Order: sequence, then C-alpha cells, then structure tokens
Amino acid sequence: MGTELNKDSVARAYALWAPVYDLVFGEVFKHARRAAVTAAERTGGRILEVGVGTGISLPYYATANRLAGVDLSEPMLRKARARVHELGLRHVEGLAVMDAEQMAFPDDSFDVIVAQYVITTVPNPEATLDEFARVLKPGGEIVLITRVGADAGPRRLLERWFAPLTHQLGWRLRFPWARYERWAEMPHGMRLIERRPMPPFGHFSLVRFAKSARAVTQRNDFLEAHAIG
Ligand SMILES: C[S@@+](CC[C@H](N)C(=O)[O-])C[C@H]1O[C@@H](n2cnc3c(N)ncnc32)[C@H](O)[C@@H]1O
Repeated sequence: MGTELNKDSVARAYALWAPVYDLVFGEVFKHARRAAVTAAERTGGRILEVGVGTGISLPYYATANRLAGVDLSEPMLRKARARVHELGLRHVEGLAVMDAEQMAFPDDSFDVIVAQYVITTVPNPEATLDEFARVLKPGGEIVLITRVGADAGPRRLLERWFAPLTHQLGWRLRFPWARYERWAEMPHGMRLIERRPMPPFGHFSLVRFAKSARAVTQRNDFLEAHAIG
C-alpha cells in the first residue's frame, strides 16, 4: 500500500473501522457533532450528510428536516441503515454509496451540506468542496467539522512523522488552514463565515461557508470573462 490517501485505501480502512467505529469515535466527538447539527439546523430544510458513516449524527437532527446521507463505504452505511431502522428515523429519506467528489445529485439540491471528519479523509479536498458547492442551493451553507493541521511547532513535526500511518488508517493529519482560506477565495460564490475550535484539544474546528444567493450568476460571469465552457 502506498502512503498517499486514495479511495481504495480509504474504503478498505473504513470496512475495518465499521464494526468498532462508534465505540472508538462516538463519545470523543459527540460535542462537535451536536454543534454541527445545531449549526446546520439554523438553516434547516433539505440536509445532506456527506461521509455519513455509521449515521452516528442522524438521531440528533429534528424531524422537521429532510435528511440524506452518502458514503464511500458500504460497511459503514450498513450500520447507518440499521440505526435508521432501529430508531425509526423517518426524516432520513435516503442513504447511498457515493463518492463525495462526484455526487449524483443535480446542482442546487440541498439547503445544507454537512461533512464531519470527512475533508481530511478524501484524496482531493478542494474538488470535494467544489462538489459540495455545486449541490448546495444558493443561500445555503456548508458545515464542516474538520481537523486543522498545525502551522508550526512540535505538533507540526509530529503530523509529518505520523502522516504515512494515518493514511493507512484512513485520514490525513496535515491539512493547513490556508487551504480552506484559498478555497474560499475561488470564484464560486462561497464565503467563509465561521471557524470555531472544537474539542478534543482544539485540534478540530467547526467551519461554515455560505453560498451567495447570486452564486450561479457570479460563476457564469466568471466563465464568460475567462471564455471557459
Ligand atoms: C472519519 S469518518 C466520519 C464519519 C462520520 N461523519 C462521523 O461523524 O463520525 C469518515 C467517513 O468519510 C467516508 N469517506 C471517505 N472518503 C469518502 C469519499 N470520497 N466519498 C464519500 N465518503 C467518504 C468514510 O467512508 C467514512 O465513513
């Protein structure tokens, strides 16, 4: 196995994680997951959880919302389906195997896209964020819980050393905040509206981007100006 993250290695890793995922990553991230759901519900409506995993956050959403979830890993989704069935979560309208980078939804489909602990597990984070922006309705929000890599100091060094190991476990440690800032500056009508540290240890952040109500027009103006497409 190489040391770079790729979709096959991620799918293999989460097939192994599926049986024990909730036990290992349930309590430790509970506060942040609840914060993300609260943030998503401020907009509410049709909500897509990308990298929904075992569906651990699904019971937190109020039944007034309509939820959909996608994930690359069938074994993780199997757990999510069992949870929906056992808890009778009728506001979950669908769970499907799908690649976050190329989703089968039309443009402007959802009011909110939520992705918790996902951006650092995908091979192409910026392309994945582009895809979130595409399926998000103008006026909607992206809500992330994400690990942000250290800019300097001993933590940065440790992240370098442990990077190959964590790739095999299914995620990356090194992800500088500047990548989110650069992405937010692209001409896709998305604006960074919040970054809030989350436990444990503040290594994670809740990050929100809003899609301008004029996003489609802005993108078309850009394409025309640069004679693309
Ligand atoms: C760390 S888990 C997070 C699961 C859940 N969101 C949570 O809060 O615990 C990352 C999830 O993202 C999924 N994932 C990774 N790469 C993906 C991709 N390209 N497309 C869709 N899902 C992906 C994994 O299969 C896994 O279920």
